[in-house]
Amino acid sequence: MKLSLLSGRSHPGLGAAIGERLGVEPSQCRLETFPDEELYFRSMEPLLGHDVFVVQPTSPPAPPHLLELMLMADGCRRAGAARITAVVPYFGYARQDRRVASGEAVGARLVADLLATRFDRIITLDLHKPSIEGFFAIPVEHLSSVALLAEPLKEFLSDGHVLVAPDLGAVKRVQYFADLLDAPVAYVHKERFGGDKVRVRHISGQVQGRLPVLIDDMISTGGTIVSALEALLKQGCRTPATVVASHALLVNDAAAKLTAQPIGEVIATNSIRRPDTGRLAFRSVDVSGLLSDAVKKIHTGT
Ligand code: R5P
Repeated sequence: MKLSLLSGRSHPGLGAAIGERLGVEPSQCRLETFPDEELYFRSMEPLLGHDVFVVQPTSPPAPPHLLELMLMADGCRRAGAARITAVVPYFGYARQDRRVASGEAVGARLVADLLATRFDRIITLDLHKPSIEGFFAIPVEHLSSVALLAEPLKEFLSDGHVLVAPDLGAVKRVQYFADLLDAPVAYVHKERFGGDKVRVRHISGQVQGRLPVLIDDMISTGGTIVSALEALLKQGCRTPATVVASHALLVNDAAAKLTAQPIGEVIATNSIRRPDTGRLAFRSVDVSGLLSDAVKKIHTGT
């Protein structure tokens, strides 16, 4: 079965990097947004009997990126692809994984159901919660970037550092880093009220006099990191702080908000296209190798 790699418009650079590692040119296709904002996809190459991989993180703006991904799968299926795998290194809507208030939708489940209508399999990276994997009726390769993100930390981590979970959802993630790096940990108990308003209730662990390394799955508006860092400083943490995240969405004025904080560096993967980081000290960790290895393993059945 021939391997074909297609890339949507959310992160063509990552699609090209994966293709280069696999020794495969991304297939030619037409992707357009019509004047009325309808999206259009057409594969310009034959796909009959091919093993197709479609690279498209559903990063902001999630709705068109998600719909484009679905259109690509539909086009590939109608062109006779034998198997279609979605490569979605950032899975949008993941935070809508349960109902907090009655009447709410569970967006993560809905998106998982939608993907399963056209795709045979999904490769994804650092889901907001590992349990989201259970929402899918198709096989999921859930990859982790912990080992890759831990590498740059090894360059400077000392006895004076503490790894911090900026909310309770990040505790397990921070424990994985702590196991790899043999470093102490602390946890911030956060309360969210609204899309970008968060408040810190309490900090567990020794932080006074230490340099914090805040670790989260994603930075969206930056509110979680900023409020956790402010609370850590009040508890006597030293600066500069370091921030580590799998997915740097940096929406709205997040980059400026973080630049205004005593942060030495923000380290994140290239799971999504690099946002406008302005003057923020930002280091990108490449996950194209991790993703291309997963593609290779699925393609060869190893
Ligand atoms: C929340 O559960 C997530 O793990 C992140 O902490 C959160 O989504 C980050 O969003 P923001 O940067 O807007 O606070």
